[in-house]
Amino acid sequence: MYRIAVLPGDGIGVEIVPEAIKALKAVGEKSGLEFTFTEALIGGAAYDATGHPLPTETLDLCRQSDAILLGAIGGPKWDELPVHLRPEVGSLLPLRKELALFANLRPVMLFPNLLHASTLKREVLEGVDILVVRELTGGLYFGEKSREKLADGGEKATDILSYTTHEIERIVRLAYDAARKRRKQLCSVDKANVIETSRLWRETVTKIATDYPDVETTHMYVDNCSMQLIRNPRQFDVIVTENMFGDILTDEASMLSGSIGMLASASIGGEVGLYEPSHGSAPDIAGQNKANPLATILSAALMLRYSFDREQEAQMIEKAVQMLLDDGYRTPDLVEAGTKVLGTVETGDMVAGNIARL
Ligand code: IPM
Ligand code: MG
Repeated sequence: MYRIAVLPGDGIGVEIVPEAIKALKAVGEKSGLEFTFTEALIGGAAYDATGHPLPTETLDLCRQSDAILLGAIGGPKWDELPVHLRPEVGSLLPLRKELALFANLRPVMLFPNLLHASTLKREVLEGVDILVVRELTGGLYFGEKSREKLADGGEKATDILSYTTHEIERIVRLAYDAARKRRKQLCSVDKANVIETSRLWRETVTKIATDYPDVETTHMYVDNCSMQLIRNPRQFDVIVTENMFGDILTDEASMLSGSIGMLASASIGGEVGLYEPSHGSAPDIAGQNKANPLATILSAALMLRYSFDREQEAQMIEKAVQMLLDDGYRTPDLVEAGTKVLGTVETGDMVAGNIARL
């Protein structure tokens, strides 16, 4: 019996999470696995109901669960709140930190029938299969922040960027272990020509590399990496990088798969894994049954794979998504000539139906 904490959050979060639950339930029926789902508030929704974006009950529920399924948080309604109450800084970041989820895995997998949904050329995309390993609990996101008034009437804002050897080592080792199970190439991305934390990062990777002689190690500056990702994405197997660089590069990399609505994510390293799509709460399309639930559904597959070690069941979800695409169904973000538009709910129903038919 697997206990899953369900945190829909804000915006399209409340629409996409139920669709991933449908997929998990269908997997349960098929495989005999049992799941319980317990819902809790997070983000703006939690702020509105309780005055805080990460209520203690939510954190407690997460700690008592075997995995967490999260939708998305934030929206214009909460943008003017004091920073510690904003959904991003007040709920998602402390949740990651409290649960010690230092590793964020974002697999950029291409479904062959979405190749021309991308803005990039088919011949650039064919064969792309990248795993981005993003450090998630350090760096600029968590460094000390301050503001100070200046004599000239302006202000000075500061964000501290720091990394310890320990923080770098654990994420880099995790990335090497992942590379060993794949094509055995690791590209470490930094800005070591300018930034001190990046120099420590590169030195640390270079040392750890000697423990992984079977994995080919390369180093790349982040600006070059952002260019290489669209110039020749096939060159990458595993990319490992710090928090902020990983945030930016994964939005970019998501476009290789045609839509950010396809990019799943797994945050691991602590006692309980957190599974969420890489995209945000998309307030502009919320409540319209237009959101693509596939990133969340594919995140549920990652939950089966990484938290429950159920590779076969994870593949059931991935196959069911492939079937849906093969049948020509697309949410509005991916629709093109010759395909049929499907809403959020109908997409979830169809994926669950496909799992039943496997
Ligand atoms: C992501 C998101 C978050 C991040 C935001 C919502 C704080 O962009 O998971 O990539 O920057 O980590
Ligand atoms: Mg992001």
